[in-house]
Amino acid sequence: MLKKLEDYEKQIQELVITSKDDLENFRLQFLSKKGIVPQLFTAFRDVPNEQKKEFGQKLNVLKDLAETKFKELQTELKSGGNTVDPNIDLTVPPFPTEIGTRHPVNMVRREVVGIFERIGFTVSEGPEIEDDWHNFSALNFPPEHPARDMQDTFFVAHPSLPKGGLSPLSGGQGGAALRTHTSSVQVRVMENQKPPIRTISPGRVFRNEAISARAHCIFHQIEGLYIDKNVSFADMKDTLLYFAREFYGPETKIRLRPSYFPFTEPSAEMDVYWGLETEADYRITKGTGWLEVLGCGMVDPNVLKSCGIDPEIYSGFAFGMGIERTAMLKYQVKDLRLFFENDKRFLDQFKAAY
Ligand code: PHE
Repeated sequence: MLKKLEDYEKQIQELVITSKDDLENFRLQFLSKKGIVPQLFTAFRDVPNEQKKEFGQKLNVLKDLAETKFKELQTELKSGGNTVDPNIDLTVPPFPTEIGTRHPVNMVRREVVGIFERIGFTVSEGPEIEDDWHNFSALNFPPEHPARDMQDTFFVAHPSLPKGGLSPLSGGQGGAALRTHTSSVQVRVMENQKPPIRTISPGRVFRNEAISARAHCIFHQIEGLYIDKNVSFADMKDTLLYFAREFYGPETKIRLRPSYFPFTEPSAEMDVYWGLETEADYRITKGTGWLEVLGCGMVDPNVLKSCGIDPEIYSGFAFGMGIERTAMLKYQVKDLRLFFENDKRFLDQFKAAY
């Protein structure tokens, strides 16, 4: 008899179940009215007196075991399988954890924004679908002026506009386009704020260009605007020199070359001196040692007027750079398309930089 009790005990301890049916069978076998445990209690009556004590104790142990096991299996089944040690935190990620990186475009954006924030520039943002006024007309691109062709534009149909949206020839007549530069944001800032204005606008811009290693139809820009009384070309040059030295290194040399933008007069292109020592330097700088990094100029009085700022009292400068281009120089990336493909092998290379 005692041996039987031990066998049952073992059977219960080793029991594994996988379904509700298994659990029910276990209950029927051991705990139901006609199950093993009640039967053993009946049998207890006939156990010889000298064995009663030991048998009784063992039987009680078996009964407890069967009942706890039943409860355990019941919760195990409810929680969908394994019972979980409550001391184990299953939300802790396994080791080693793979940590992602910031995208190189984002890293450069953050760095450039930080450099200008340190000298009091604020960040402003605006819509990616722009109207003609903010993207072109307010920036001194007269309707039908060839300067509009400098930036191949995606015109968009808009529910509130005549079918087909704005055609290149209806410039200035209203309509919508994907913004071709974030200068549009600066128009919004000038319309809504009084000078002094010191702001930079980072953001995504769109141009209808064939995708190649050097051009893409989507890219990012950071443009800056400074307007106050007596702002001079020298102020612009000094601000840009500060930027170049913070970003490209303390010894960086810059030069400004005359250029043309409808919204600035005079306009310039800023180059930084890259060096001309290795073959790669020759290739990157096309043999000049200088790299073009941004466009800039004194805000055209017409632009100030369009935005409700009196050009007799205020003057200002503006500048704009492509973030991908800047990142290409900084990290020596040879193909612009890599920034948009999200190839993990490419992105992983920026782990150290982050
Ligand atoms: N908006 C110009 C562009 O997208 C860049 C620029 C900004 C040039 C401000 C001069 C001043 O090319």
